[in-house]
Amino acid sequence: MTISIEPSLGDSASSTGARPAGATANHSDSDALLGNYKRAPGRFARGEGVYLIDEKGQRYLDFVSGIAVNALGYSDAGLQRALHAAADGLVHVSNLYATSPGEQLAATLVEKSFADKIFFCNSGGEANEGAFKFARRWARAQGDAKHEIFALRGAFHGRLFGTLAATDRPSYRMPFRPLAPGIGIVERDIEDLSVALNEETAAAVILEPVQGEGGVRVLDAGFVREVRALTKERNVALIFDEIQCGLGRTGTLFAYEQFDVTPDILTLAKPIAGGLPMGAVLMTEAIASTIKPGDHGTTFGGGPFLASVANYVLSRVSDPALLESVRENGAWFGRQLQEIARRTGRIRAVRGIGYMWGIDVMGTASHVVNEAMSAGLLTCTAGEYTVRLLPPLVATRDELVLGLGILEEIL
Ligand SMILES: Cc1ncc(COP(=O)(O)O)c(C=O)c1O
Repeated sequence: MTISIEPSLGDSASSTGARPAGATANHSDSDALLGNYKRAPGRFARGEGVYLIDEKGQRYLDFVSGIAVNALGYSDAGLQRALHAAADGLVHVSNLYATSPGEQLAATLVEKSFADKIFFCNSGGEANEGAFKFARRWARAQGDAKHEIFALRGAFHGRLFGTLAATDRPSYRMPFRPLAPGIGIVERDIEDLSVALNEETAAAVILEPVQGEGGVRVLDAGFVREVRALTKERNVALIFDEIQCGLGRTGTLFAYEQFDVTPDILTLAKPIAGGLPMGAVLMTEAIASTIKPGDHGTTFGGGPFLASVANYVLSRVSDPALLESVRENGAWFGRQLQEIARRTGRIRAVRGIGYMWGIDVMGTASHVVNEAMSAGLLTCTAGEYTVRLLPPLVATRDELVLGLGILEEIL
């Protein structure tokens, strides 16, 4: 009898699974990273203000800001101090115990918003997943069949199974079916939403007041108010995803302030901890009162290191002078983009608010993004034809002028 032993997946190297010394010689370091990102050429080594600087010393004006994360730009002296001070304190303590920085951060968010209670987590996707759970917990307390969650056409709420079901990008969704059930997409139309929202079965509607990945679309304020009225009428929770558009990006601390509407739940992430991973779910007492110990949790959420840095970031992005400059410079920036569209004939539409703008270009957006990078300006796409511009909130009018100049030239 012959026994053939097939090599198992781990047998290529040694019995421990480790690769023998030197076996990686044919690989560059980046080969070890999963190929789930399409990365631009070069490697960034440091940053100063609104500039990122690569390993060769080339400077790039950054109108991506880590996709709306680096609100204070790079090497901000106050943020550096906050990071050093946080590192001198406790880094992690389990949520089995209380620590002051997280409590203080929650209290400040409550003081500055519609919310009564705050839950901290580690990313935007996780914040939205938490929001879905809290909304369902509340809804089930109203009626056992109430569970459906609706997102809008063009929405992006994350890439986890629940949030992916609420994200309107077929290419992101299709390879991973089946997604979480009970979550659907409806048109940005009050009639469609009215048909979809059955009081017996609907738990929540989630929307981005300004859709980011979906092409930088500022939702119509009248529509958002109608959604609020409809969700109230049908006893459905309204969730605002302000992960990208919140914390000063639109020129007010929260985007909802500009729509004259308050949600029941609001999610934050991206800029909140100055580039460290943190998310937050803000909610009313009505939602919070249905949550009991054990209903939800996350190991790192609201830890003292992250929260003390976030306390500093929040103090900066809620500074009225900063918000006023985002409002004024942002409106001016939008007018300049319209002018560039007129002069070049290479922009089909300009949309945005504050320091969050999208331009629909002729040809593909990725082509413009590549050209802009070669000319020293970082931008990113929001769909196939939209170039997205997200300068750090500290960018001055002069720095915006520089970016606009590069953009016009390459267009
Ligand atoms: C509006 C919105 N929601 C959710 C997310 C997901 O956040 P994260 O990548 O931190 O999971 C993003 C990220 O781009 C976003 O822009």
